[in-house]
Amino acid sequence: MANIGIIGYGIVGTAVDYGFRQSLPEGKQNKILWYDKYKDGSSLEEVVENSDFIFVTLPTPYKNNRIDLTIMDENIDKIAKLSEEKDKVIVIKSSVIPGTTRNYAGKYPKNMFSFTPEFLTEANYLDDFVNPDRIVIGSDNDKIRLKVTYLHKERFPNVPYFLTDLTTAEMVKYMANCFLATKVIFGNEIYDLCEKMGIKYEEVVKAVVADKRIGPTHLDFTSLRGFGGKCLAKDIVALIGLFEEMGIDASLLKTVNEKNLRIRKVRDWEEIPFVKT
Ligand SMILES: NC(=O)c1ccc[n+]([C@@H]2O[C@H](COP(=O)([O-])OP(=O)(O)OC[C@H]3O[C@@H](n4cnc5c(N)ncnc54)[C@H](O)[C@@H]3O)[C@@H](O)[C@H]2O)c1
Repeated sequence: MANIGIIGYGIVGTAVDYGFRQSLPEGKQNKILWYDKYKDGSSLEEVVENSDFIFVTLPTPYKNNRIDLTIMDENIDKIAKLSEEKDKVIVIKSSVIPGTTRNYAGKYPKNMFSFTPEFLTEANYLDDFVNPDRIVIGSDNDKIRLKVTYLHKERFPNVPYFLTDLTTAEMVKYMANCFLATKVIFGNEIYDLCEKMGIKYEEVVKAVVADKRIGPTHLDFTSLRGFGGKCLAKDIVALIGLFEEMGIDASLLKTVNEKNLRIRKVRDWEEIPFVKT
């Protein structure tokens, strides 16, 4: 059985542990070790040494309207040096903007890299991890992609798989999160119009989401307004930063983000550790 290491034992790291530990028959369990700078697990060296797959589930906060990869860079450097030319795959699950994992693969050519985005929700993180809608596995190398796919298929045989390259897999995560952020703000706008006209927004939504193309989530109106939490608010900033670096018009996402900052009652993400540097 493949042994698994986890770097960063927070929401996603704990879910990886839970998901890969359970549901294999007795005697076929993977050995799982984890390292976290702020928690009492194993050392980084011990985790890398004893793992075939090293899942990186570290924070990727934002700083000055860009993703801040300092924590990732420091840890990837150590992991890459400890695992170079060994049969170990570094599987990045942290949300990193498109291009990041390919940069690491270029910087550390003696290592194997995969990017496998995570789509769990914080409210239901363990169940979400073991019941995913799909699993996306990115690598620029067929052999590495196959290895990571095999590991997942053994645990999650009945899930749709999307096998692709590193940057496509990274873009899937950001498109999904930024779409959901946009959906929240759109719902909020329609809510305001409904209120003004004496229309019950909830009743409208119920009939709208009966259309399978639209999907039922992210349209509930909450008194806090807009979106908050750990991911949407930081990921939209990071993607807008990438648009700007690439010189591509991001006017829609900028409007969504600006409107959220205007209407959101509490910027809860600013208080959550590791969301904003
Ligand atoms: N929480 C979610 O719902 C969710 C969903 C999908 C993807 N993600 C992404 O996954 C990544 C991790 O998110 P999370 O919610 O698990 O974060 P988290 O804050 O819950 O966990 C991160 C862990 O990393 C540890 N850590 C911080 N700095 C460290 C360092 N320098 N070295 C070692 N350990 C360190 C922290 O102590 C913490 O336990 C982020 O990129 C996030 O965007 C999160």
